[in-house]
Amino acid sequence: MKIAVFVSGRGSNLKSLLEKVPHSKAQVLAVVSDKIDCRAFKIANEYKIMTYSVGSIEKLKEKEVELIVLAGFLKKIPDEFVDAFKNRIINIHPALLPSFGGKGMYGLNVHTAVFNSSAKISGATIHFVDKIYDNGFIIAQKAVDISGLNSPEEIADRVLAVEHELLPYVVEKFSEGKVIIENNRTKILD
Ligand code: GRF
Repeated sequence: MKIAVFVSGRGSNLKSLLEKVPHSKAQVLAVVSDKIDCRAFKIANEYKIMTYSVGSIEKLKEKEVELIVLAGFLKKIPDEFVDAFKNRIINIHPALLPSFGGKGMYGLNVHTAVFNSSAKISGATIHFVDKIYDNGFIIAQKAVDISGLNSPEEIADRVLAVEHELLPYVVEKFSEGKVIIENNRTKILD
């Protein structure tokens, strides 16, 4: 399956995808960013993957990209783009949606809100992208116990570790055609 990964910063989820999903199942053909000097572009360069600035929808179509993965991409995806890749854009969010999502809920903002709520669990969510922030059908979630943690940064680290497991798992399943939508619910087949 041909994949494009959209990033804005560090790129650790991009790296975990490249390391953990076999190339025979998923090929990352393009890394797209709104910030051309981001660290994720360095990772793409190391893996000799083409990098693009946003606004390259035609190029992604030309390359016959089948799945777009938002991995720390901070900009809103334009509606036309969501229509062009219907049910083919997924996002990783560093909390358990539908809580702690929406506009402005990214990076440490999310973990600070979780910390201040005194919630005892957090986790990672992978969901389809629709036209509203963090709103599309949830595909997979993994929870972590944060009851003993003392700062948003500690929560971020614990959640990131599960993100690095969950995203490669979902992308591999997607590449096998095992992520399905049925009766308005998503399912991951064995
Ligand atoms: C991750 O926590 C991801 O869930 C969120 O932004 C962060 C990106 O981290 N959407 P990285 O760029 O993959 O290291």
